[in-house]
Amino acid sequence: MRDLINEIYQSISSFKVDNPATLEQFRIKFLGSKSEIKNLFGELKNVPNDQKKEVGKLLNDLRIHAESTFQDLKNTFESTTENKNKIDFSRPGEFNQVGSHHPISTVKNEIIEIFNRIGYTVSEGPEIEDDWHNFSALNFPPEHPARDMQDTFFVEKGEKEMALRTHTSSVQVRVMENTTPPIRTISPGRVYRNEAISARAHCFFHQVEGLYIDKNVSFADLKQTLLYFAQEMFGEKAQIRMRPSYFPFTEPSAEVDVSCTICNSKGCNVCKYTGWLEILGCGMVDPNVLEASGIDSTVYTGFAFGMGIERITQLKFKVNDLRMYSENDIRFLKQFTPNL
Ligand code: DAH
Repeated sequence: MRDLINEIYQSISSFKVDNPATLEQFRIKFLGSKSEIKNLFGELKNVPNDQKKEVGKLLNDLRIHAESTFQDLKNTFESTTENKNKIDFSRPGEFNQVGSHHPISTVKNEIIEIFNRIGYTVSEGPEIEDDWHNFSALNFPPEHPARDMQDTFFVEKGEKEMALRTHTSSVQVRVMENTTPPIRTISPGRVYRNEAISARAHCFFHQVEGLYIDKNVSFADLKQTLLYFAQEMFGEKAQIRMRPSYFPFTEPSAEVDVSCTICNSKGCNVCKYTGWLEILGCGMVDPNVLEASGIDSTVYTGFAFGMGIERITQLKFKVNDLRMYSENDIRFLKQFTPNL
């Protein structure tokens, strides 16, 4: 009897369970009502009295071994197979990287929308420009120092020397060449200048050019249009002021400041305690520029303006370092992800 108990003990330990059917076989073989262990308990009465106690204990141990082995097998078996198909709702969700609009794009789109509402179309031109569209047609004389105002990257295209456009004013030339007035258009795009990169300057940035040409367009129209823009962009309390300036392609020319949105014109370090922030250049299109593009300056007048998108973005989002916009640091970009 002792040998038999030993044998069963061994076979319990070495029994392989790898699916529900074998687990059930194990249960029937060792724990069922007709199991060998049950039979042995039945035969205990034939064991001589002096050995009963010892054999009874062995048998009991055997039953406990069978039961605990069954429980262990059941547990491991369940955790390796069944659980695989169960959904663990307590696990953290899988993270999806959601892209976001770059702040420059967001502000560009907002500028486009603001001007769309008063009838401006969007037009675009090439970033690699010829001298004509970037300079000459805009009334920059060949050796005029005004060309130096815009440190230019020159590139060669075949025989021709080309430039990376230094401003989006080149697009107004292309539009004027190809369109009969009335013209009301804005031209957003990237521009390039040969500048050392710092927090306040970059070798590429973005501008939006505006152009309005029709009969009887006046400086008052320009002023009202820019006030409308400033109030749509920065809130209805925004004010503008114009300062006389010089651009070769406009006469008269002005620079426009908006009342400081950061301190409500009380004076802060962003507006350098003046209460005003410069946002764009503008003016009445010089008759020479109209004529160069085939528009009769005795019939038509117009205004133009150009603004830096980074500058507007800086005021809207209070990002002071220009380099941030092109470094693509995920920690920077994430701040502009809309809350989903
Ligand atoms: N092109 C100028 C610049 O890049 C900005 C500008 C000023 C555009 C006056 C205009 C304008 O159309 O009328 O600094």
